[in-house]
Amino acid sequence: ARLVVLVSGSGSNLQALLDACADPAYGARVVAVGADRDGIAGLDRAAAAGVPTFVERVRDHADRADWDRALTAQVAEHKPDLVISAGFLKLVGTDFLASFGDRYLNTHNSLLPAFPGIHGPRDALAYGVKLAGATLFFVDAGVDTGPIIAQVAVPVLPDDVEETLTERIKEAERRQLVDSVGRLVREGWTITGRKVTIP
Ligand code: GRF
Repeated sequence: ARLVVLVSGSGSNLQALLDACADPAYGARVVAVGADRDGIAGLDRAAAAGVPTFVERVRDHADRADWDRALTAQVAEHKPDLVISAGFLKLVGTDFLASFGDRYLNTHNSLLPAFPGIHGPRDALAYGVKLAGATLFFVDAGVDTGPIIAQVAVPVLPDDVEETLTERIKEAERRQLVDSVGRLVREGWTITGRKVTIP
């Protein structure tokens, strides 16, 4: 199966996928990595693995819809079976979702529907929850609202600060991403309403 991965930052989730794809039995390969900005470690990781990259910056476009069309075209060129947002910090628009909405997934660092948005671990700590975690879901038109594929929980420890909790979540998150993407590409999936079924 062909994976296109979108990143905006360090790309540790991308790296976990690249490592998993090195085993032919995994059943997938990363055919391209896209970003919304230059100069990020995620692009370096792709280059180091010999994977083609592209960058589509919002400010190079007349408006957000134009950017969305350009991003959609870039991704479509690589004919992905799955598109994975792994720390990609932009919300895609209607064109992108029309093309990839049934195969665009995102990994988020909270147990949704709690703590959507870009500060999952910080918000979990501030609230005082005792379990935090990560959610893998199919992206819909909302913010962190789509049908859930998998969730993993980790404890919040008494002396946690944002960095320690973030790292504990990310370790579990990477494993979940690799396991779930592997199952999706090898076994397929159906989405019925909010229910995701992997046969
Ligand atoms: C992940 O924890 C993801 O949930 C959040 O940003 C992080 C991306 O990390 N949205 P990385 O770039 O894969 O290291």
